[in-house]
Amino acid sequence: MKYYLTTPIYYVNAAPHIGHTYTTIAADVIKRFKRMQGFEPVILTTGTDEHGQKVERSAQTAGKTPEEFTKAIAEEFRRQWRDFGLGIDHFVRTSEDPRHRETVQWLFERCMKNGAVYRGSYTGQYCVFDELYVNDAKPGDPCPDCGRPTETVTEENYFFKLSAFADRLLDLYAKQPNFIQPETRRNEVISFVKQGLNDLSISRTTIQWGIPVPVEGKHVFYVWFDALTTYLTAVRDQKDKSGNDIWPADLHLIGKEIVRFHAIYWPAFLMAADLPIPKRIYAHGWLLFEHDKMSKSRGNIVRAEPIRKVMGADALRYFLLREIVFGQDGSFSYDALIGRYNSDLANGLGNLASRTLTMIQQYRNGIIPDPKSEPEYAFPFPVTQAVNDAVANFERFEFSKGIEAVWYLVSSTDKYIVEQAPWSLAKKNDQVSQRILDYVLYTCAEVLRIVTALLYPVLPESSIQIWTQLGMPQQLELVKHADLRSLLLPGQKIGPIAAVFPRIDAKPAIEKMRELEAKVTAEQAVLMGKAPAPAPAAPPATGSLQITIDDFSKVDLRVGQVLSAERVKGADKLLHLKVDLAEAEPRSIVAGIAEAYAPESLIGRKVVIVANLAPRKLRGLTSNGMIVAASIEGGKPVLAGFLEDIPVGARLK
Ligand code: ME8
Ligand code: MG
Repeated sequence: MKYYLTTPIYYVNAAPHIGHTYTTIAADVIKRFKRMQGFEPVILTTGTDEHGQKVERSAQTAGKTPEEFTKAIAEEFRRQWRDFGLGIDHFVRTSEDPRHRETVQWLFERCMKNGAVYRGSYTGQYCVFDELYVNDAKPGDPCPDCGRPTETVTEENYFFKLSAFADRLLDLYAKQPNFIQPETRRNEVISFVKQGLNDLSISRTTIQWGIPVPVEGKHVFYVWFDALTTYLTAVRDQKDKSGNDIWPADLHLIGKEIVRFHAIYWPAFLMAADLPIPKRIYAHGWLLFEHDKMSKSRGNIVRAEPIRKVMGADALRYFLLREIVFGQDGSFSYDALIGRYNSDLANGLGNLASRTLTMIQQYRNGIIPDPKSEPEYAFPFPVTQAVNDAVANFERFEFSKGIEAVWYLVSSTDKYIVEQAPWSLAKKNDQVSQRILDYVLYTCAEVLRIVTALLYPVLPESSIQIWTQLGMPQQLELVKHADLRSLLLPGQKIGPIAAVFPRIDAKPAIEKMRELEAKVTAEQAVLMGKAPAPAPAAPPATGSLQITIDDFSKVDLRVGQVLSAERVKGADKLLHLKVDLAEAEPRSIVAGIAEAYAPESLIGRKVVIVANLAPRKLRGLTSNGMIVAASIEGGKPVLAGFLEDIPVGARLK
């Protein structure tokens, strides 16, 4: 049986952060888990959402064409998923993939043919950031989702008759109770639909950056009509080995803020086009950073890449799935990340692995012993029950509980080792003690095999490392037999032993991650056109002209306060300032800072003025002094100023 799952396709108005990584990692975990359960093929689609006004504007800010801009950011997403080892089967770029354009147009035509689309005119409030029409909002009202001001738009549009689908949608939610999960999200959607649905404008004439609507005129598709269709684009003509269609999706994995688009619009579009409806939509919670949703606009972003580089991909995967209850919001912090790693992975699983392997090395020359049968020393914990428990929880996407069930086996095995004390058995030479020791060592290794098999979806790299150390890298295929069935072969030689989760020292690790984070953030600001490319290093001090203190004292630097500021007509860069220097009259100064500072923002500000510069004329105005600012090649000037209060007229020396 096939299993088809998707992540959202992410906006390219910024490079990936840990929130995007969270969803994509969770999708990869589910994919691996479904494979273990025997689904074949298991197909995962992700991609980038590249059309719309927001992207058009971001490209402009970056000084790039939308094509160049979207390509650069999409590459960044693709690279990150590759570096994280995520099993992406289809990566769809909405603005670049011709199959996608064709599928969007095809879907529209089917909706049109079935009478679900009409032409009309729309005037209302629109949030560009969320690409969302805000019903019932007045001009100037903020967007209910992000709080930014909405813009008034009037357009000739194509409308989708969403209002006609309310009953069919409610029927779908009733007949397919798992369609929207978790339950809270389902209730939210049902009560929204029960209030009645407005028709939805699905085309735009005010922007160009979109897929053309196959009609007269300059319409392009509304981004959500375009974006949701990606899920279909990726597998439209694809079939499994027995000839069954891959569509519909078995799972759309998303964050909770976009549940309405997925649970209302998307099934309605598909119903209108007579296409099969996805089986399940699962909306997980938000990653918070210090109690706020992490987001580009709040500037409280954490990135996944520094964590991967310092601690490894598995450490992050483990943390995200163990610490945060899937479906609910959860907080991220470096301290919690390292705490979990050290307690659960280094001291827990890692320690069990190295202990077990080291004993086999020392007491049995690195050969897995034959357990024979010694029922009175049998493993006294319910392994099968723990396995079933873990699998059932994974099946419900209750990863955190599933992992807890596995850790029950880890701690049970630790107890078993203490109780059986293999180190004492090893000292006794009688046959009975040696047989018990064989049994105990075999059992520990076998439980370790089971534990890592269960954890493979969450910890793929580390599981393979542990299997390799157990001498059974080839047993990968047996992960679905996560049960005490003596699959570990006696007589097998174990591999070289190495710590899979070495302990991490928190302070230097956090410093390193923060340092990398700052680097990535700076690189991105350049990519987004929000910061100039870094200035070439300043010439070495010895290369600049040396002066004496007397030379310096010739320059009269004074604290001034800006009294007024105006733009200079016909000169984009210049501001005309009146600056108080505690002299009889304010100074008139013309400064090239208009691109960096709005005139009104300068009033009252204390600045540094070169007070004894010979006067000069600029655009007919007298400039009697110069304002001091730092400037970097290609960047905007930044005014020198003071943190402490300082009287006007004070001299700098
Ligand atoms: O909404 N916590 O794209 P987007 C958890 N293009 N998950 C988070 C997160 C956070 N703080 N921040 C982002 C869009 N995510 C549309 C989707 S789909 C047809 C179109 C994850 O770039 C989460 O999966 O804003 C969320 O739904 C998604 O990124 C939003 O990404
Ligand atoms: Mg978003």
